[in-house]
Amino acid sequence: MKVLMVCLGNICRSPLAEGVLKEKFKQHEVKGFVDSAGTAAYHAGEKPDPRSIDIAKKHGININDQIARKFRVEDFDTFDKIFAMDSSNYNDIIKVARNKSDIDKVEMILNQSNPGENLPVPDPYYGGKDGFENVYQMLDKACDTIVEKIQNGAKI
Ligand code: 4NP
Repeated sequence: MKVLMVCLGNICRSPLAEGVLKEKFKQHEVKGFVDSAGTAAYHAGEKPDPRSIDIAKKHGININDQIARKFRVEDFDTFDKIFAMDSSNYNDIIKVARNKSDIDKVEMILNQSNPGENLPVPDPYYGGKDGFENVYQMLDKACDTIVEKIQNGAKI
């Protein structure tokens, strides 16, 4: 199962999402590959935001070695599932989809934990530290559901 996490800058939310799911894949011995990307290239080549690195570390996850990159159309070929953090990310990914098969791979990540609600993972970039803990908790819950579904042989 190859999963791509996508946000705007690929420095706050999606690196955390990548780290959380990678850790759960490891813990539950799920075979897979997890990566992340941003719909914008402003921060390409950078490490995750120090606030994301700190929150991940607090929860025993090391995301220090991640490097931001921009989402590319070839990602539709590489990945089985593409999770958007918010509706703006979702729309930006769908805009470059080439066909229905591409579109069908894309979903708002919190629809895993809250089906059909289209809830966003709020952008914590301009907020305080609480924002990052909140983001972590949301992603942790969604990633638990993802792993449970995979273990049960269900489609994610
Ligand atoms: P992310 O957060 O999309 O969760 O990585 C942001 C990072 C950078 C910016 C916006 C959001 N920015 O405008 O530079």
